Amino acid sequence: MSHTSTYAAKSNSSPLEPHSITRRSVRPKDVQISIEYCGVCHTDIHLVRNDWGMSNYPIVPGHEIVGKVTALGSEVDHLSLGQRVAVGCFVDSCRTCASCTADMEQYCLSGFTATYNSATEDPGGFTFGGYSKNIVVDQHFVLTIPKGLDPAGAAPLLCAGITTYSPLQHWGVKPGMKVGIIGLGGLGHMGVKFSHAMGAKTVMITTSQNKAADALRLGADEVLISTDPVAMQSKTGEFDFLLNTIPVPHDFNQYMPLLKVDGTMCIVGAVGPTAELNSGNLIFGRRSVAGSLVGGIKETQEMLDFCGKHNIVSEIEMIKISEINEAYERMIKSEVKYRFVIDMASLN
Ligand SMILES: NC(=O)c1ccc[n+]([C@@H]2O[C@H](COP(=O)([O-])OP(=O)(O)OC[C@H]3O[C@@H](n4cnc5c(N)ncnc54)[C@H](OP(=O)(O)O)[C@@H]3O)[C@@H](O)[C@H]2O)c1
Ligand SMILES: [Zn+2]
Ligand SMILES: [Zn+2]
Repeated sequence: MSHTSTYAAKSNSSPLEPHSITRRSVRPKDVQISIEYCGVCHTDIHLVRNDWGMSNYPIVPGHEIVGKVTALGSEVDHLSLGQRVAVGCFVDSCRTCASCTADMEQYCLSGFTATYNSATEDPGGFTFGGYSKNIVVDQHFVLTIPKGLDPAGAAPLLCAGITTYSPLQHWGVKPGMKVGIIGLGGLGHMGVKFSHAMGAKTVMITTSQNKAADALRLGADEVLISTDPVAMQSKTGEFDFLLNTIPVPHDFNQYMPLLKVDGTMCIVGAVGPTAELNSGNLIFGRRSVAGSLVGGIKETQEMLDFCGKHNIVSEIEMIKISEINEAYERMIKSEVKYRFVIDMASLN
């Protein structure tokens, strides 16, 4: 076991501040990683502030982790010391259920072990994430970063990347399709890049007129301002697929009419109960509303390799760990362009 510096919140109203934790000793199948960069996901804010009523304190967030291997268990067979690796949103699952054996650990029927805030036998009783100097993770849940990708820009791929790549793949996004990405934040900007790279006509649907030029630069063919009812009305029935990344409860009915017959809106913004869904928007047009959670380990590696091939990384603003509380405030105001990444060298 080893003591490790982190940043943690002690309650739902406390700022993040320095805090020491204990990591488990390296077991035969474990990989110890010295963390270089950790992305800042809106989920970190939801959990630090206990938006979902399930937070354990002190909480050490962070599930977009990139670093270098510093120790290997005796049975680790595919990684080497000093190699650049990554860890995403979960660090364990049952490995035997129908979901796990189908490479969808994120839908483990026994519940996966999240990278932070999940029950564990490790010291502390629940997992601690990537706002930390190091982490110890079973090799099955450790990804590799393709050579040539900027490691800081790659960190957000571990959550924002896979959360948008997976549904775009699942719903078969390809040339000839028209795709709308709703919300230009961490997830949304990756969604635009992936939809564009998969060859679809891509429309950024945003509340922020001032992000329009960036959306086009990121790969959108068009920008639709969702607060303009005339513009929204003019796009009725045009979209094959909508990916909704909005992080607060909102009225889905506002977006459903944009879908074609048989179109799907996939919700990835984790918002819980929301305004009542009008069945008319489903029935008239045989439309669907669906959800999607990150992606399995195999698909996450495929996504990273896809990014290596297409040279896709996140647009980041690098911060010091001491700037994290201010970064949260800016994310809540939709001011991040487009993902904060913590330089972990700034943590002593
Ligand atoms: N399903 C999953 O597996 C998964 C994984 C990761 C994260 N999440 C969840 O996904 C959500 C987004 O995360 P993120 O890190 O991308 O957040 P983010 O960086 O804060 O971006 C969210 C964007 O949504 C838009 N938005 C914010 N408030 C809005 C409002 N009131 N009405 C309409 N649009 C609004 C803004 O874009 P515009 O300025 O363009 O309007 C904002 O930039 C969070 O709820 C997070 O917990 C889910
Ligand atoms: Zn996340
Ligand atoms: Zn399972």
